[in-house]
Amino acid sequence: MCGIIGYTGSGTGDVLDVLMTGLSGLEYRGYDSAGVAVANSSLEVYKREGEVSALENAVPDSDLDGLAGIGHTRWSTHGPPTDANAHPHTDDDGRVAVVHNGIIENYQALRRELEADGYTFTSDTDTEVVPHLIRSALDSGADRETAFRQAVQRLEGSYAVATVFNGSETVYAARNESPLVLGIGEDGHYLASDVPAFIEFTDRVVYLEDGQFARVNPSGIVVTDDQGAIVETAVETVDWDPEDAGKSGYDHYMLKEIHEQPTAIRKCLRERVTELEGSIDVAELADLEVEGPVQFVACGTSYHAALYGARLLRERGVPAQSFLASEYDVDAVPLPEGSLVVGVTQSGETADTMSALRAANRAGATTLALTNVVGSSAARECDHVMYIRAGPEIGVAATKTFVSQQVALAMLSSVVSGRGSQEFAQQLRALPDQIQQVLDESTAREVAAAYEDADAYFFIGRGYNAPVALEGALKMKEITYNHAEGFAAGELKHGPLALVTDSTPVFALVTEGDDVSKTLGNVKEVEARDAPIVAVTDIPDQVSAYADHVLEVPSSGPRFTPILANIQLQLVAYWIANRLDRSIDKPRNLAKSVTVK
Ligand code: M6R
Repeated sequence: MCGIIGYTGSGTGDVLDVLMTGLSGLEYRGYDSAGVAVANSSLEVYKREGEVSALENAVPDSDLDGLAGIGHTRWSTHGPPTDANAHPHTDDDGRVAVVHNGIIENYQALRRELEADGYTFTSDTDTEVVPHLIRSALDSGADRETAFRQAVQRLEGSYAVATVFNGSETVYAARNESPLVLGIGEDGHYLASDVPAFIEFTDRVVYLEDGQFARVNPSGIVVTDDQGAIVETAVETVDWDPEDAGKSGYDHYMLKEIHEQPTAIRKCLRERVTELEGSIDVAELADLEVEGPVQFVACGTSYHAALYGARLLRERGVPAQSFLASEYDVDAVPLPEGSLVVGVTQSGETADTMSALRAANRAGATTLALTNVVGSSAARECDHVMYIRAGPEIGVAATKTFVSQQVALAMLSSVVSGRGSQEFAQQLRALPDQIQQVLDESTAREVAAAYEDADAYFFIGRGYNAPVALEGALKMKEITYNHAEGFAAGELKHGPLALVTDSTPVFALVTEGDDVSKTLGNVKEVEARDAPIVAVTDIPDQVSAYADHVLEVPSSGPRFTPILANIQLQLVAYWIANRLDRSIDKPRNLAKSVTVK
């Protein structure tokens, strides 16, 4: 969380533009405040509480040409979202400016020490120790690069940090457990938390590793280790189309990304599924050998995908379990020889998931990252990686990446179990067109109009529909701010039924092959308490009689129809949030990439 950008260019007059463009591309990482520092003979620092648009209004129209600059968009951890807590932070004289993503765990001790030495703090943040540490090293006679290195070496915790000095065209940066990528352009060089920040300018990147430092200036990029020795790095080309990062005429990224799902699935399946032979062959997994059970670690939406994937594996005879990454305890869960631990993570940077994967790695398990982001920490640190190929997802609420994760997990289950079938391959291949059909014919907007004022929303489903019910509730919570809960359908009667009234619509996922009569029994239980029922189903003939509204989906067998049902739930949540005028792409208190534990 938090996004950082840095730029140093050979052209003049473009530093501020590049920083502002970069911040817009990073806003999904946090939007509590934004700020920039542009280096000239002095440092010009502008920062504001709120979104990047608030910063844009705060920056004077006057020409802010500079030699180099850094910018930041914040998801608050230490201190509320105020102008004072916004980054960049500076030393007492405003000669050093710093932006940071992560958490400096020893900041209180460092702050006490620096205050005792006479340095003045003006924010509640952990970050503010960094410019004072740099200044302290400069005061002791260190040159700028050494002062930066010495300051960073005092930090404990996670950080991606970037610094500019007055009168200098160099940006200094370092990372530990927070992402940082360098961009090599024609007219300048970039650094950022993530590629969308500068994809408009260059697709040539170098991923910085933990413990590495970077010196970035108009003539080049130099990467060093923590002793200052130069490290050889590989330049990679990212194949993201800058167009993918725009809204393409949709009101919100989320709606655009919902509509991109057929394309995302086609990309995910490409060259991996051969329908005629019914074979599934994932090139990245050619060397994967699994002899023991499979454990999934994940958070949020990705955890729901993991629940779905574990069920697919179990059905194919492979023991599999899903764990919330933040609760994963390798000591408590046996990891027999040959176990595979799969981190399901869109961003590949989620701190809880990374921590679980590292623990599994230390315990001797083979690790696999199932991720969307090429070069992410998960992709680089795991033994194997399978990309879900969904393309950039900017909306904080995960939509196309969830569906792509489900599809990728279906392929993984086939590879690991060695059990594929022509029917399975055909059903996967049919999904993009079926999703398009749901998008074209959905009446979710009318359902949203009927239930925008409900007290709470419940979602129920069994089997493969159970994780979809959890995901439906999560989408509703995060973008409408309304109370929503998802349950395995059979659980309702064990407690939650007490909450059901005529103001709590129940979205019942009832699809062929998931023990329809039992789920319909659960539907009748809520109907008897006067709750409105919205059935999401491929068998309307059997279900309509019990429902106030029906959201129909095509049939794709017991494993895949729930994927289609999920699309309807995404649309309902979107249209309710839209009617309530919520901040759909940037819901309050949230951020897309959660790099703190
Ligand atoms: O990047 P990850 O998949 O590891 O992120 C995990 C969760 O933070 C994420 O899925 C979150 O729950 C979604 N944004 C919810 O829509």
